[in-house]
Amino acid sequence: MAYYRINGGKRLEGAVTISGAKNAALAIIPAVILSGESCLLENLPEIEDVRIVEEILTSMGAAISRTPDGSMRIDPSGINTFSVTGKMVSSMRASYYLLGALLGRYKKAEIALPGGCAIGQRPIDQHIKGMRALGADIVIQGGSVKARADKLKGAEIYLDVVSVGATINIMLAAVAAEGQTIIANAAKEPHVVDVANFLNMMGANVKGAGTDVIRIQGGRRLHGCTYAVIPDQIEAGTFMIAAAATRGDVIINNVIPTHLEAISAKLMECGVTVSEGDDGRDFFIRVSADKRPRAVNIKTLPYPGFPTDLQQPMMALLATAEGNSFIMENIFENRFNHVPELAKMGASISISSRTATVEGVERLYGAPLCASDLRAGAALVIAALAAEGESTISHIHFIDRGYEFLEQKLRALGADITRIEE
Ligand code: EPZ
Repeated sequence: MAYYRINGGKRLEGAVTISGAKNAALAIIPAVILSGESCLLENLPEIEDVRIVEEILTSMGAAISRTPDGSMRIDPSGINTFSVTGKMVSSMRASYYLLGALLGRYKKAEIALPGGCAIGQRPIDQHIKGMRALGADIVIQGGSVKARADKLKGAEIYLDVVSVGATINIMLAAVAAEGQTIIANAAKEPHVVDVANFLNMMGANVKGAGTDVIRIQGGRRLHGCTYAVIPDQIEAGTFMIAAAATRGDVIINNVIPTHLEAISAKLMECGVTVSEGDDGRDFFIRVSADKRPRAVNIKTLPYPGFPTDLQQPMMALLATAEGNSFIMENIFENRFNHVPELAKMGASISISSRTATVEGVERLYGAPLCASDLRAGAALVIAALAAEGESTISHIHFIDRGYEFLEQKLRALGADITRIEE
């Protein structure tokens, strides 16, 4: 098991380039199955979850290779199984996208029930509701979801909960369903739009992604294509918060500023300086701070609201704010596992149901810490970078799932962070 050792109190300064979006990549890679033809995927992040999806598809018979620039060429024509179970699959939530992709392509699938972070129960009832509406028979047996359909037919589907995963999964199956499918109350996250753009690049007809009603004209023949994944909104937000927490001055390159409006606005409300521009090639956002942030209130909401994935990193910043901040986590029922760890550093945070009250303290102090999930780990890294003294963070395999070269990127910004393999 590896851990981080961080000596805090150093300002982050300089420039960092954001990698491809994890939550887009984890859906687009399985979606290649729908065309049955070879696709070239560019700007994929080098993260553990992408390696796991690559391994799963290879074990199913897909031929996957890498080009010198790291792009992934996937030829799904050799896939010879529609049953994907076992530890690898249940260890990662995004494996549920194989359900929509295999059902869409082969009209049958058996997928181990998804795992994921310890941030909540994370049911998949809306995924199943959508697949059944398209004509699939679905049973949950022995820890797996088993689906089959004689044919898939377009349907009108209203999501009871705004779900990123269900929206994307239903889209994947609907491109193979005869006729029109309407997904109402759909998620609008940037990665939902990215998946829709990829499907259209393969020849599908998906309209309205990014709004709460998505229309899919299914049954078209799909073909292979080349596609570059968008930059990661959550990685960018994580670095923006880290710059503010260390009272630094950081240029974050390769971003889409509109995807970051909620976090930019909240940081400016804290008194942090946020500006955006483009260098003729890419957009960038510059974040700088020279004093403690003002306390602010946060409510996590589906996009374009404040993203739940940045709730934990933001709490690390607000732990040393001037005043009390109230953070309401409306998306997941158990996303405060980082709080006891921040308390070890001197943070003063109390929780009542889904609201954390963060009483800002002057500073945090280094401590031995333990990451419990991906974004909790990111929050602890930010807190340790800002704290006085040395921290260690164990269980950083959670962080490896979603951040590419994190310690290298932070070191290039002046952080004193070392990865130690035990
Ligand atoms: C995706 O998870 C992301 N993961 C999460 O990112 C992200 O936090 C989440 O969307 C919200 O933006 C991936 O894309 C791999 P949801 P997902 O379905 O699809 C409930 C990270 O840190 N729900 O939008 O699982 C659910 O319990 C990870 O990168 C149902 O009730 O999220 C939750 O309360 C963490 N029934 C809410 O909806 C369902 O069938 C939103 O979940 C599906 C979801």
